[in-house]
Amino acid sequence: MDLSARLFVVRTCIRLSIRHILPLLLSAPVLLLAQAGNQSNLQLDTGEHIFKSACIACHGPYGKGTPKTIAGFEPPDSFPDFTRCDQTTPEPNVAWQDVITHGGPSRGFSQIMPAFGDALNPEQISKVIKYMRGFCRERGWARGELNLPRALVTEKAYPEDEVVISSAGNARGVAGFSNDVIHEQRFGVKNQIEIDVPVNFMNQNHVWHGGVGDTTLGIKREMFSSLRSGSILSLQGSVIVPTGNRTHGLGTGTTTFETFAAFDQLFPTNTFVQFQMGADLPRHTDISPQALFWRTAVGQSFAADHGLGRLWSPMVEFLADRDLTTGAKTNWDVLPQMQVTISRRQHVKADLGVRTPVSNTAARPVQLMFYILWDWQDGKLTEGW
Ligand code: HEC
Repeated sequence: MDLSARLFVVRTCIRLSIRHILPLLLSAPVLLLAQAGNQSNLQLDTGEHIFKSACIACHGPYGKGTPKTIAGFEPPDSFPDFTRCDQTTPEPNVAWQDVITHGGPSRGFSQIMPAFGDALNPEQISKVIKYMRGFCRERGWARGELNLPRALVTEKAYPEDEVVISSAGNARGVAGFSNDVIHEQRFGVKNQIEIDVPVNFMNQNHVWHGGVGDTTLGIKREMFSSLRSGSILSLQGSVIVPTGNRTHGLGTGTTTFETFAAFDQLFPTNTFVQFQMGADLPRHTDISPQALFWRTAVGQSFAADHGLGRLWSPMVEFLADRDLTTGAKTNWDVLPQMQVTISRRQHVKADLGVRTPVSNTAARPVQLMFYILWDWQDGKLTEGW
């Protein structure tokens, strides 16, 4: 064999051995654990025992992570610090269960996080999750389980970090469609700001007008939440600024104060109900009347892969609003829809539905509604697929 052929063989051997040894090295904790699980002297019966036997080498004794000189790997940007309540409390248990059972790639995370599904049974995985929940020491953070699937219209109670782009197009009646770019961001333990910029297109007497609508600036505060009872209550106050052109039908032409309460209830069967009720109080009631609204979303989540995989959430919304003027009638709409998680990490979701008026139907169109949602705390748009 000449030199170049020999080099080729050596290089191939090295490449092959890296490809084969790296996964072996990474799965070493799992193999050791599986072996140890068979020996009676190693206890894996409490969450603490499991964590200290199987997880501590990478995640450190307090869940903050082991320095990379000891752990031997370059931690990914998303490497968790389990003492950071702002990062861990939004994650529901099933997300962790999925990663621990099937390994990091199951949710689009690094393959350095091994799969423990063969070494630990579901009960042991639940125990270690319960133990890891103790690393967050601050109380009062609402748990991510209460972050219910977002409906198309009804606002939820959970304070979230999301960007939503939603569209509604008239399927019948006057031609027109509106889009909303909504940015929501948490601050502190219980608060969230919301900015909603609509971009509307209306056909008035066969002429299209397009432009920015009235912009909403809001602050939401969670008042109560309990994972045990599955309930969460929030209040929001907003100012709707008249940035839209009134003469073209894009805005109301007056500043409006909006206030609402949102109450969500999750049942153990993953059935949920979300209520929102509030009032719009314009400054100039001569050009835009005061109004009340109440909204309900009822739905059910189904997850593939024994509850760990893609989440489908069919819902129906019942929407009502009424102007506070004499003789005004209540507008009722129904809005069946389906929300689904798109990315493996479940941080990108889409929802599609049809909104149909059931009262005062003459002047109100049937609308096709859609949104795409990005939970940006969980990763970049390009990550987690
Ligand atoms: C070989 C090192 C290693 C071991 C051992 C290990 N992990 Fe991990 N784990 C990681 C890395 C690295 C990540 C981050 C992956 C990423 O962000 O891309 C991670 C992520 C996680 C996450 C995801 C958190 C999130 O952001 O959603 C959970 C949960 C977790 N590990 C639990 C465990 C448990 C429980 C054990 C023990 C049974 C364990 N890990 C053992 C390296 C390890």
